Amino acid sequence: MNQMRGNHGPRYRHQPGESAPYERIRVDKLTPIIGAEISGIDLAQPMDADLFGEVLRALAENLVVFFRDQHLTAQQHLAFGRRFGELHIHPAAPHEPGEPALMKIHADRDSPRANGEGWHSDVSCDAEPPMGSVLYIKQCPPHGGDTLFANMYAAYEALSDRMKTYLDGLRAVHDGEEVYRGTYANFGVGDKPSYPKSEHPVVRTHPVTGRKALFLNRGFTRRILGIPRDESEAMLRYLWDHAENPLFQCRFRWSENAIAFWDNRCAQHRAMWDYWPHTRSGNRVTIKGDRPV
Ligand code: SIN
Repeated sequence: MNQMRGNHGPRYRHQPGESAPYERIRVDKLTPIIGAEISGIDLAQPMDADLFGEVLRALAENLVVFFRDQHLTAQQHLAFGRRFGELHIHPAAPHEPGEPALMKIHADRDSPRANGEGWHSDVSCDAEPPMGSVLYIKQCPPHGGDTLFANMYAAYEALSDRMKTYLDGLRAVHDGEEVYRGTYANFGVGDKPSYPKSEHPVVRTHPVTGRKALFLNRGFTRRILGIPRDESEAMLRYLWDHAENPLFQCRFRWSENAIAFWDNRCAQHRAMWDYWPHTRSGNRVTIKGDRPV
């Protein structure tokens, strides 16, 4: 049964807007709601202002954009990320030698886990969580290893007006402790004395689009403040399930040398670890963001 269907039809109806054509890139949507593949661009080359503007616009319209058959050096990957802002250093994860902003994303037959297996937005436990992430996968398993992305504007808009009123002004704790402690021991990365923990609004307004998005995730969000603990637990369970509804999702099937660039302010993602004992490997460059409001 369609969980979004009430007495008067579907509760969430995507309103497709008229979009002006792109002049420098081709943008093919994966779903009406989230995700688009961009072609006609070589990310190893510097982008002029018009090209940069079109990529930014495609990201704003689609929340996550994908580029296939890209051949970037580590420095070109870092330079692409820097074009969108200062780079973020992960508080726990392993990075390439001498390049703290070049995070390793790697799982193989000896891995106890893979990165990003549950729904989350990257490092939402930071006081200023990352604006975006640029994942470059160079080695793919023969099947599987897809990444799922979900649109948190759509998740917010599909809530009832009563629920939107209830959530208005509420804040929640996002905590990295459980997620990060001991997680990267197999990469030889020791634990830190502590990990980031922050309070953020449950609904945030995107600084570029001005749209409201649900900002909580099963990975990091531990407690809604200002309500009893049992109510917070029940509400979080409801909101996590709601945010993870497939209606709001797209699923990207990787090919070697593909790149995904997502906006953590309005999208969550989840990596599938369904390919053991095969290897999936690449690097992520993460772009700093601002304090959610
Ligand atoms: C991540 O959360 O950055 C990992 C995503 C992926 O490996 O697909």
